[in-house]
Amino acid sequence: MVSFDTQKKQKIFSELARLQQRDFCFSRGHILGSMCTVPHPIAREAYIQFLETNLGDPELCPGTKEIESQYISFISGLLHAPKSSAGQIVSGGTEGNITAMWIAKQLSGKKEILLPKSAHFSFQKIASLMDMKLVEIPITKKYIMDVVELKKKIHKTTAAIVGLAGSTELGTIDPIPELSEICTDEHIFFHVDAAFGGFVIPFLKELQYELPDFDFRCKGVCSISIDSHKMGYAAIPLGTLVVRKKQWLECISVDSPYISSEKQAGILGTRSGAPVAAAYAVARYLGHEGYKHMVQSCMEVTQYTERRIRELGLSLVMKPTMNVIGVKLKKPGCVVDRLSKKGWRVNKVERLSCIRLVLMPQITKQIIDEFIPVLQKTCEEVGEL
Ligand SMILES: Cc1ncc(COP(=O)(O)O)c(C=O)c1O
Repeated sequence: MVSFDTQKKQKIFSELARLQQRDFCFSRGHILGSMCTVPHPIAREAYIQFLETNLGDPELCPGTKEIESQYISFISGLLHAPKSSAGQIVSGGTEGNITAMWIAKQLSGKKEILLPKSAHFSFQKIASLMDMKLVEIPITKKYIMDVVELKKKIHKTTAAIVGLAGSTELGTIDPIPELSEICTDEHIFFHVDAAFGGFVIPFLKELQYELPDFDFRCKGVCSISIDSHKMGYAAIPLGTLVVRKKQWLECISVDSPYISSEKQAGILGTRSGAPVAAAYAVARYLGHEGYKHMVQSCMEVTQYTERRIRELGLSLVMKPTMNVIGVKLKKPGCVVDRLSKKGWRVNKVERLSCIRLVLMPQITKQIIDEFIPVLQKTCEEVGEL
């Protein structure tokens, strides 16, 4: 049993608190540019309870392993995955994409990835790590992958095509059903990066938003990566990669002689059960209806923000598809720096000459009412207004 030297402990914790004070924190509501969120309170409790678990050695914690299986079933259901499918818990969108491309490379023996120009930068890591080649496909005026251009680039060396269901910059959705058909006809591995949109699109569709299908109901979709630490309202780090065929995980498995299970799939070895238990608790607590309600209120705040920004005389890059807004500016970097000094965090997207706002569940209309005058003043200072 550890006995505490109380004075020493206090000293350490005051040092931690001092450093933590320098952080922007989600719960204060001033982070408007991140796809992560304040974890739901129930996630916090579950996380702490499962701190000492290791899912890398699952026979040590069969209970936590069962939670993991149930969480994967929940995600698979959300994505309409077939019975033949399997899920792999990952740390987030980057690991989800890496793992998917690892599978595609192993299955095809090829190295070329066709992906939209708007794809997340994690693919740059993939190219470097796995010696794969990225072929960027232009995007259309609607900021989605140009299918005509894509078709021109398909080649016998193509290992995979990647489509986005919720792009990082604008939350756009590539034409997944069309891409799915192309991949079926051409026998190409099709990965859908739904790191952000995976927890948004299913609910928006139920709320009668007209959006393309993006999940396993599109027969050519081979894998989907979805992050719980984004719109899943869970704690960092957690995502899931679901693959259409369970046996595909074998090609990323190795023998694991000194631990209890014979084989281990995926990139990580030791990994905590805490984020899994946290995400599971949130899913059980909110349920399908709870998530739908959450997405609905994020969209209400998005529409409110959109209106307030237009009233300032600024324009948007496009009508938001989901709870991500791009505000057109001449000098986005300059605005971002000034906002940061005033205590507000947004992102710049130089490529699209805009700043990006992500209206996560903790962002309320009251927070937007606080932010708009600051944005207005900042834009006036730098000559944007
Ligand atoms: C579409 C998309 N894919 C992948 C990622 C990477 O996710 P993570 O930072 O959790 O690894 C992001 C992050 O924002 C993303 O938006």
